[in-house]
Amino acid sequence: MRGFLLATTPAPDTEPRLSAILTAIGDQQADLMNILHAVQAEFGFISEKSMRAIAKALNLTAAEVHGVVTFYHDFKTAPSGTHVLRLCRAEACKSMGADHLAAEVASALGIGFGETTADGAVTLEEVFCLGLCALAPAGDLDGKQYARLSSERVALLAGKVRA
Ligand code: FES
Repeated sequence: MRGFLLATTPAPDTEPRLSAILTAIGDQQADLMNILHAVQAEFGFISEKSMRAIAKALNLTAAEVHGVVTFYHDFKTAPSGTHVLRLCRAEACKSMGADHLAAEVASALGIGFGETTADGAVTLEEVFCLGLCALAPAGDLDGKQYARLSSERVALLAGKVRA
């Protein structure tokens, strides 16, 4: 909910920045992916308001833009927490207990994947292979990779960033 509220109330200077992106990249429907990547790079996520503005500029429906944004895993529709914890959910990690680990970590944080803790400290995301398959289960915290994860080790890492 926190992320949703923020996502629908962008900073006042959002519109000029969004307009600059649209002007720089173009207004053709083929420009959609480049625009979405640029908006996410600029704001950290793609708000409903941005989706509507992009749709209008490209002569698409808001539903069409929303469909593309939500189809691709890397696009975010809400701002991330201060720290981003990603757990690998791909096969090698699954075979080494990634599903159980994910359930324990989600329960300990009190959130699901794609959600942020109430204090805004940690966003939990899933990722599909970090190239650490031989050291599964793997994940990363703020981009630093960790291998052979256990729920205890993840709790320690999450506790450190929240301290
Ligand atoms: S499957 Fe998890 S790191 Fe490759």
